[in-house]
Amino acid sequence: MKFFNREKEIKEILSVIESEPQLIYFVYGPINSGKSALIREIIKNKLDKAKYVPFLIDFRQIGAGSFEDFIEAMFEVDYTTKIDDIKKYVKDFINWILENTDTISKLISMYSGVPLQIPAPVLKLEEKERRRIKNIYRYLKELFIGIREKRKMPVLILDELQMLKDISLNGNRSLLKSFFQFLVALTKVEHLAHVFCVSSDSLFIEYVYSATELEGRAKYILVDDFEKKETLEFIDFLTKELLKGKIILSKKEKEKIYELVGGKPVYLISIINDLKTKSLDEVLSYLLQDEKAKIKMFLNLLEEEEKIEVKDKIKIVKKEEIIKTLKKFKDSFVISIENVKPEVYYYLVKKNILFLDPINEILKPQSRLTYHAINRALKELSL
Ligand SMILES: Nc1ncnc2c1ncn2[C@@H]1O[C@H](COP(=O)(O)OP(=O)(O)O)[C@@H](O)[C@H]1O
Ligand SMILES: [Mg+2]
Repeated sequence: MKFFNREKEIKEILSVIESEPQLIYFVYGPINSGKSALIREIIKNKLDKAKYVPFLIDFRQIGAGSFEDFIEAMFEVDYTTKIDDIKKYVKDFINWILENTDTISKLISMYSGVPLQIPAPVLKLEEKERRRIKNIYRYLKELFIGIREKRKMPVLILDELQMLKDISLNGNRSLLKSFFQFLVALTKVEHLAHVFCVSSDSLFIEYVYSATELEGRAKYILVDDFEKKETLEFIDFLTKELLKGKIILSKKEKEKIYELVGGKPVYLISIINDLKTKSLDEVLSYLLQDEKAKIKMFLNLLEEEEKIEVKDKIKIVKKEEIIKTLKKFKDSFVISIENVKPEVYYYLVKKNILFLDPINEILKPQSRLTYHAINRALKELSL
């Protein structure tokens, strides 16, 4: 399907890419708001391929839990080569990129990036992880220097980076901390490549936001669900794209959709698709029923005391506190984090009920649909 709008975010990201690399950018927002789709759209259709070499790593595809998973997600390991001289390999790899522009364009449109090749000998399988990671950084740095020497700019995109959170290097230092250090050197210190990290995990964004090693070295770009105006336009766009204009919705109907589910692209796509066989009221009431049932089940299964990990410490959350917090959404879609204990919002964010925006210090349901479902569920359970 074609991509819709996001003009403001595209402009912001392109303007970052057009200036010298300075900071690491974190693209964040609620689940399914369209972050990955936006990044892929920029790489495929907005980036001048004559100037930029994009590499997109999607850590979710691998489900990185170990150092080996990290390597598998990052690289296409070249086992055929005997070359272990990083500089020599990099030179060949860059020449291949420059000489095969048609293949590269195809690869970019297929995978949203150039596969990041690395020669197997550089990975030094027999060595300890700490040494191996140093080699990997050295390789990446040489690669980016080589690309810059050819007057092109590397753009490194790391999608769902939070997957690396629990990987450690030989059981002590965390891979993520060391990776951040490397990324800071790439951007703030040496200005060698643009780096964008994407994540739907708002607790991870909070962790990053408060990480001292990133203070003053990172910036944040929010990609939220669409606002009302864009949602109504997106619905028009979708009826054309998916229903070939066979069904036209009135302004009232479009507003009804927005009022109930909000501007989350996945919901809107699924609603419009379902209109092929069902009426709008049927589709909407099914969605609300489904979401409400999930929230009711969540509430029914709550123990009087639940456990949750907050910044490496196990904390207790009381059921009544969880309910009290959800009740705050009776009159407002957004609440300030100030009056909510961290363990309570950590719990609700972890369960994908709330979205935390640590930069703006607010909490809100993951979607407008969730917001309505919370309120209905509380009412039906007389809480
Ligand atoms: N602007 C858009 N135009 C068209 N489809 C979109 C747009 N934004 C998101 N989508 C669709 O919505 C779905 C969810 O988006 P995705 O980018 O995966 O969300 P996120 O990465 O924020 O969790 C995808 O299938 C994507 O194709
Ligand atoms: Mg995504």
